[in-house]
Amino acid sequence: MNKKCVGIIGLGSYVPQRIMTNKELEQRMDTSDQWIVERTGIHERRVAAENESTSDLATKAAQKALEDAKLSAAEIDLIIVATASPDMVFPATACVVQENIKAVNAAAFDISAVCSGFLYALITGSQFIKAGMYRKVLVIGAETLSRFTDWSDRNTGMLFGDGAGAAVLGETPEGYGILGVDLGADGGGAELLKIPAGGSRHPATNETILQKQHFIHMNGNEVFKFAVKVMGETTLKALKNANLTASDITYLVPHQANIRIIQSAAKRLGMPMEKVVVNINKYGNTSAASIPIALDEAVKSGTIKSGDIVALAGFGGGLTWASSIMKWCK
Ligand code: ACO
Repeated sequence: MNKKCVGIIGLGSYVPQRIMTNKELEQRMDTSDQWIVERTGIHERRVAAENESTSDLATKAAQKALEDAKLSAAEIDLIIVATASPDMVFPATACVVQENIKAVNAAAFDISAVCSGFLYALITGSQFIKAGMYRKVLVIGAETLSRFTDWSDRNTGMLFGDGAGAAVLGETPEGYGILGVDLGADGGGAELLKIPAGGSRHPATNETILQKQHFIHMNGNEVFKFAVKVMGETTLKALKNANLTASDITYLVPHQANIRIIQSAAKRLGMPMEKVVVNINKYGNTSAASIPIALDEAVKSGTIKSGDIVALAGFGGGLTWASSIMKWCK
């Protein structure tokens, strides 16, 4: 068995400057600030500028992560971008980032696992290092879901925001880094959360655009039930994989989709909310970017410290879910 220890050795995040408040949304859809805060925990979200795309956000987060890891871009062997809102259908957004940061020695590809994407990328990237193929891997969760959000649809319009978070993966001292993981998917739930048109099944036509088929469509209640069930389950599986229990967790960094989903995951794990990292109030659901942004903020503010046991857990369209237990080592 390969005993190499792999973990996060640098972190960075970036959110666009433009803040969209719930009050602004009241002008665009039949909703209220009070309803959004009570039912989701979201107060405001960030929206990318017209000239900013997913790769721009990803590039800024990546540059900060490289600086944090004290590495040059040329030292990166692989870039994985997790996104549901790529710059284009192809090429991969990871290739655009590679060119932007001049990571001239890196391979690059995207991963599509919607809100679980960052954890899918983290776990995939770590395997390349464990296998001895690469030494340094840059994983990024980046989204501009504002481009796929119908601001007049009260089923989805209040939930999403834009942002990016990046992590540099490398070898860690023995006993530190990723201790256990869990990955899963249930394609039977694919219809619950989707952007129906713009792909090969429903290519873009005037009709698909008029029918708003290029925006996010979601069965919120079903996704909610799935999320409440799977968040605790996936974390417990990763803990078992790490030979740990929920009481060993110092901090839980969950996907930021809805404060009620986060609270129920904490309850399932028997954790007080003081041990749960929450920033959904500021950014809404930034999909693949939510976990690395929350993790970066918790580490930079001094909340998460070296030696802490950190659980990352997420769920998303697909349906997908993933979690990772780490011993923090920075
Ligand atoms: N503003 C005001 N009222 C609203 C709104 C709104 N935006 N939306 C619904 N309501 C009303 C409904 O009409 C209903 O009214 P009624 O009781 O008079 O009939 C009432 O509020 C309750 O509606 P529900 O749909 O049951 O609201 P719920 O509490 O389930 O919240 C929500 C809806 C926030 C969408 C929730 O279901 C949710 O968070 N689901 C999970 C979504 C999620 O996590 N998606 C991301 C997945 S990650 C990824 O891969 C992108």
